[in-house]
Amino acid sequence: MSAQAADKIMVKIAGMKPEGEPETVGMKLFAKYVMEATKGKYDVRVYPNSTLGKEDAYIAQTRKGIIQMCATGTQTGSLFPAMAMLETPMLYDDLDHAHRAMNGETFKLINKGFPEKSGLTMLNAFPLGFRHFYTKKEVKSVDDLKGLRMRVPNIPLYIEFAKQLGQSGQAMPFAEVPAALDQGVIDGGDSPFSDIVALKMYEITKNITLSGHILVIHSLYINNDFYKSLPAEDKKIFDDAAKRSAEDVWKIVAESEKKATDIITKGGGKVSSPTPEFRAALVKAGQGTWKLFYDTVPNAKEILASVDQYRKK
Ligand code: G3P
Repeated sequence: MSAQAADKIMVKIAGMKPEGEPETVGMKLFAKYVMEATKGKYDVRVYPNSTLGKEDAYIAQTRKGIIQMCATGTQTGSLFPAMAMLETPMLYDDLDHAHRAMNGETFKLINKGFPEKSGLTMLNAFPLGFRHFYTKKEVKSVDDLKGLRMRVPNIPLYIEFAKQLGQSGQAMPFAEVPAALDQGVIDGGDSPFSDIVALKMYEITKNITLSGHILVIHSLYINNDFYKSLPAEDKKIFDDAAKRSAEDVWKIVAESEKKATDIITKGGGKVSSPTPEFRAALVKAGQGTWKLFYDTVPNAKEILASVDQYRKK
């Protein structure tokens, strides 16, 4: 290492998504903004695509301070149940609605008590997009989803949602999905457009059903001890960079959501929208999962109610 590099303060950020996806783009923008604003005082290095281990492993490394930061979603619900509410099924009217809630009270209420409990602070919210079903078989109604072996992240909320829909939820890390589809271990799963497009899932599972049932929110988390050790002016730079990179990602995702259907169709996928009856069944199943929050999150009802003020009047 050169003398100059040795003078810098190293910040490692781990993520799970491949290059070019919103999470990775967001992490890289954050790194750029911090390095520019501190004139190279920090050497911020981004490790996407599970290169520092799978999601649960790199969250543990961030908590221990082995690395300083990571990007993840509601896996942190296992440390603090309210975090699962970041991805409450069937909660938002659209991306703008979620954006307002994440820049407002809902974000704050979810995070209340999280740093003390986890050793981590959530700096922002990167949207990765609404999840849609990808299936080998055509899905025209909620009954067609029943009995399917669908990959789910190993998160109670997702497992419960699959159960509410009568699916056989197969928990596995995201990185294992393409092989599991190829080998026929699963019949499909659900992912945001960003994953469906990046991994060309429609080449294996032709049918994409625009259910939009969960908005995936991945966020930048920072180790508390490291965060507290930052001088005030640097802490502000980290906070501002987190906010700015998140705003960039909200815009990028809004743009790419518009183009995704076209890309999938041109790639040979078949995109369909649920009928009103199908949508009503999704709402019922989604709301059926909310009971998990009532049992585990003391301010669950306050969090859910806070979202209403951000609906368009
Ligand atoms: O936030 C949920 C996310 O971490 C799991 O989703 O599909 O990226 O593993 P997936």
